[in-house]
Amino acid sequence: MRNRVLVLTGGGDCPGLNAVIRGVVRRSARERNWEILGSYEAFNGVLREPMELIELNKEKVSGIHVKGGTIIGTTNKGGPFAWPVKNRDGSWAAVDRSEELLRKLQYQNIDAVINIGGDGSQTISQRLFEMGLNIIGVPKTIDNDLAGTDFTFGFQTAVEIATAALDKLVTTAASHNRVMILEVMGRDAGWIALHTAVAGGAEICLIPEIPYDVEKVLKRIHERIELGRGFVNIVIAEGALPKDGTSVFREADEVGYKNKRLGGVGIMLMEQLKELDAELDIRVSILGHLQRGGAPNSFDRILATQFGVKAFEMVLERKFGEMVAYRHPKIVSVPLKEAIQHYNIIKPDDQMLHTARGLGMSFGD
Ligand code: F6P
Repeated sequence: MRNRVLVLTGGGDCPGLNAVIRGVVRRSARERNWEILGSYEAFNGVLREPMELIELNKEKVSGIHVKGGTIIGTTNKGGPFAWPVKNRDGSWAAVDRSEELLRKLQYQNIDAVINIGGDGSQTISQRLFEMGLNIIGVPKTIDNDLAGTDFTFGFQTAVEIATAALDKLVTTAASHNRVMILEVMGRDAGWIALHTAVAGGAEICLIPEIPYDVEKVLKRIHERIELGRGFVNIVIAEGALPKDGTSVFREADEVGYKNKRLGGVGIMLMEQLKELDAELDIRVSILGHLQRGGAPNSFDRILATQFGVKAFEMVLERKFGEMVAYRHPKIVSVPLKEAIQHYNIIKPDDQMLHTARGLGMSFGD
């Protein structure tokens, strides 16, 4: 009988997911007796009746590494520990189906699972590992906030998209003598904002790790104007927040979706600034999901491919309960526990933060 590995993608989509899948399948094809299956929309494919599992072979994954999204679908709702079930009165309850999931996997003769996802997905991986499942994690997120790895795949593509957007805003800022605010993703960590601000040459960068003082942001704007440069570019992460304030979000309003929906802090900043100086000409652009879609850049294709090949090799070595990680210049494995213990946030001694401050960039602190 052939050994069976189940691959799944969970959480928000991210450029590079397909490249990981292809890496797993192609590496497995070099060994005898291995079969790779994909579960549609993370574990939903296993838990649904009838099951939605698809065979992943070399033909199926041919050329997919250049494409965005995921050929096996994804979800950031529910999951095996909190499966949404509708009550008679129309309300929703979360049911734990993890034991059933393990039984179903056993029944399908699944020897190992490769779970490609961010912190939410890897927390599920760890819990299933503790229940006895042979599982390996692959770190994905454009936010780059998973610990244990130098980079997650998808991050560099998001920075490239955000930098292209910032470059465009700079020309408008310069032509109109305006303050242009670009809001990028980054829920708990400001990596996309920081790297974009350095790449594009922004004057101000606001991130969740450093709550901003609006008076200080305004001071920096006035300094620029006094220098005879009438325009200012600000990059702000969606999770940024003012001192003594909170981030801007809507409560989750979709069934099974637990995250707060961030977005709009750029508009709040504009209003705060206008309140202090009504003469400022300010415009806000919110990049949103544009930075998560489309094809991965070459860095992310390569990193994701390396992750895929390594993940399958970890199955061969039976390194379960571990996650693939990039520790320059090596692709290694780290315990899942380590990766989900805390977020990878920007620390005060971070090298890129140091570079940005060295350029004279303000963080509103
Ligand atoms: O975790 C990645 C991320 O892109 C966050 O930066 C953002 O807040 C979130 O996903 C948005 O997710 P959704 O697609 O569910 O709106």
